This record gives sequence, structure tokens and C-alpha cells, in this order.
Amino acid sequence: MIIAHISPRTGGKTTSAGWQAHALHERGYNVQAFEADYSRQLTEWDTRSGGFPFPVQQQASPMFHKNVPPTLAPGQIGVVDCGHAEDHRNIVQSVLRVADLAILNTAPTTADIDRIERLPMRALIDDIATLRPDDTPTPTWVLLNRTANGAKATKQYKDYLRDNGWNVFTTAIPSTQVYAQSMLLPVTAHGSAYDELTTEMLTRGLLPQIEVTR
Ligand SMILES: Nc1ncnc2c1ncn2[C@@H]1O[C@H](COP(=O)(O)OP(=O)(O)OP(=O)(O)O)[C@@H](O)[C@H]1O
Ligand SMILES: [Mg+2]
Repeated sequence: MIIAHISPRTGGKTTSAGWQAHALHERGYNVQAFEADYSRQLTEWDTRSGGFPFPVQQQASPMFHKNVPPTLAPGQIGVVDCGHAEDHRNIVQSVLRVADLAILNTAPTTADIDRIERLPMRALIDDIATLRPDDTPTPTWVLLNRTANGAKATKQYKDYLRDNGWNVFTTAIPSTQVYAQSMLLPVTAHGSAYDELTTEMLTRGLLPQIEVTR
């Protein structure tokens, strides 16, 4: 299975991909992270935090759809940190061709949501439907992140996005220093919002059920 973290520009993709990969690993999934971004921030995070407990592979390539699927072991989950969709449309679309799920990362702010609508992100996702084996767009879920505690905007934008046809996770990722400074320390996802997201994804049938082995 491949999960792609996308956003038009900076949207919390690297943070989400890194934390989600740890959350899945801690739940017993066999995880492999992919960096489909020239910035190499996921790789830098891997190095600076002392090494992730799963591999991180560089794949900033418009041939992602050909290169990556054959490298995944059966049952393995590939978590992909994509670059800006505005600037690297070809790479993002290559990832979306083979992704089983796309997670659209955004803060609940006018600026971030405008970017999604102006690209437009929906068209970018829909455009590759005919290049996918099932002829349908990549199932996509919006993950609100950098949310402020109790802010009305989170609920308002959640409703707005749902009204505009997006699937939106109930789980939102709060703005905290732990996430802002994640590059510096080893990650423990247990008890975090990303662990909660894993539970929601399992409940919604977006992740395979596995026997917990650790
Ligand atoms: N939940 C959060 N709380 C606080 N800060 C956050 C959170 N998520 C991300 N950040 C911070 O926001 C900034 C952007 O996040 P990140 O680098 O993950 O975005 P990105 O989409 O990968 O950006 P780019 O497209 O430029 O690679 C970083 O400084 C990161 O530490
Ligand atoms: Mg990034």
C-alpha cells in the first residue's frame, strides 16, 4: 500500500509523513518511507534524529509510479513525502498514479485553502484517473494540521471542505512545539495525534488490519 502526503506548497507534509510512518511502525506495520521531494528534509530528519526504525528512500522522480511499486514487499506500507504540487506537478502526479490513498495536508487557514482551490488540487488529482489501474482518482482525505486549540476555524474549514466534496479526517493535528521541533529528537508516536489518526484510518477501513506483532 502507498500513502502519499501532498499539498500545493508548504503544508506540513514532511512532518505528517515522518510521524505517520512512525505511528504505523509502532502499530506493527512494515513501513518504508519515500522522499519524493528534492529538499531531502525527511532524509535530514532521519539523520538528525539518530535514524528512523525503517528505511527512507529517495524517489524525487516523475518515474515514481514505475520505480517504487516493485520495491515494496507484500503488506508493506510506503509513506511518501511529496514536494510542492505547485512546482513539482509531474512528480506528485506520478506518485498519485500508484498511491492507494492521498493525504492532503493543510492548516485551517484562508491562505492554505486558497492554494488548494487555485491550483486546483482537485483537478490535479482527477487528471491522472485515466492513468490509474482502476480508472478512478486517488482516494484523497484532507488532514487539518497546525490547528489552534478550540479555534472555530478548524470546525468551519472542516465543514467548508466537506461541503465542497472533500473527505476530511475527524482527527486534526494541533500546532505544538513537539511537532515543530520534530527533526531534532527520535519520534515516539504512541499517544500522539498521528496515533489517533491511525485509529481513525483503521476504523474507516483505510488501512489493512494486521496482527499486532510488537
Ligand atoms: N502540527 C504542527 N505544529 C507545529 N508546527 C508544525 C506542525 N506541522 C508542521 N509544522 C511546522 O511547519 C513547517 C512546515 O512543515 P513541513 O516542513 O512538514 O511542511 P512541508 O509541506 O513538508 O513543506 P515543504 O513543501 O516546504 O517541504 C515546519 O517548520 C514544521 O516544523
Ligand atoms: Mg517537506
